[in-house]
Amino acid sequence: MIKHFTSYSLLPHNTFRMNVKAADFVEFTTLEDVVSIAKELGDVRRLVIGGGSNLLFMGDFEGVILHSAIKGIELIDENEDAFFVRVGSGVNWDGFVAHTVEKGWQGLENLSAIPGEVGASAVQNVGAYGVEAGDFIERVETVSLTDGSVKVFTKEECEYAYRDSIFKRAEKGKNVITHVVFKLNKKPNFVLSYGNLKEQCETMGGVTAKNIRAAVSNTRAAKLPDPAEIGSAGSFFMNPVVDSEKAEKLKKLYPEMPIYPAPGGVKLSAGWLIDRCGWKEKSSERVGVYRNQALVVVNLGGATGKDVMNFATLIQESVKEKFGVNISPEVNVID
Ligand code: EPU
Repeated sequence: MIKHFTSYSLLPHNTFRMNVKAADFVEFTTLEDVVSIAKELGDVRRLVIGGGSNLLFMGDFEGVILHSAIKGIELIDENEDAFFVRVGSGVNWDGFVAHTVEKGWQGLENLSAIPGEVGASAVQNVGAYGVEAGDFIERVETVSLTDGSVKVFTKEECEYAYRDSIFKRAEKGKNVITHVVFKLNKKPNFVLSYGNLKEQCETMGGVTAKNIRAAVSNTRAAKLPDPAEIGSAGSFFMNPVVDSEKAEKLKKLYPEMPIYPAPGGVKLSAGWLIDRCGWKEKSSERVGVYRNQALVVVNLGGATGKDVMNFATLIQESVKEKFGVNISPEVNVID
């Protein structure tokens, strides 16, 4: 079923709580819907959104916003080691993770309590606590917005990297994700390298997917704002990767600075860098950083996209000045 709205408020569709409108808003529930939408769309500005948890609207959107309401979680195959699960792009991400934990389909438990929807997880390669969605994605099913043809991207074709995929680059805006097929483990392979996840699980009676899910949910609740209460888009910036020479220099000056090995160099913690620039104490009238995680820029009430970007630019400049490091937004800015 296709639903079409005009002059549609995007307030319930962006966790930053920008009070903006879309000229047209189209929601669909099947692959066939997307094929027919693609054939009729014409040469108009378009944007595909998920749960709106990683978007910053700079103003009203003069075009068509497409939103998937394709549901369903289906076990389509299994082999000795894995379950293959096909999920509609409009399924709530955390609802899906809860389902996998209940069913004993292993691997996604560290990605508990992340806001958003399954389709967007495959674009953004959401990650937390040592795990990324792309690690478990087998293929991504899409419909081309140019001609309505169906195209399936294999895991390799998705080119997953830290908060990155082909859908953010060469394929950006060209297609709609209808389903994502996950390959989940039959035997557990728990990732407990982050913080005190292991200790938290032990106090709950042992390391199980269910307890990891609870520990991750508690950790997130302690560090990150609840989107139902405070407007934000989670991490506003990506963690920067610098060369090892630069990292060593900084480490000499700031021995307590967290560093992580990463492809192409050393990953620094943008949250730590921003915190050390004193941003927890420097909110503006309508924008600030979250008290428990400086990487999260928050809407203190009534902020516009411009207010947020002005504030974010000041943060970037101060990090550059103090540490000589460039940080860039993770959030998708929609002009
Ligand atoms: N830190 C501070 N002050 C702060 C924030 C962080 O000193 O205000 C320090 C922490 O003490 C820690 C380090 O910086 O030593 C890293 O902080 P944290 O563990 O919170 O993780 P992060 O690198 O800041 C990333 C993801 C989060 C994800 C966590 C946990 C990105 C951009 N962000 O944050 O993802 O939950 O790791 O894996 O990679 C999101 O994408 O929206 C998100 C929340």
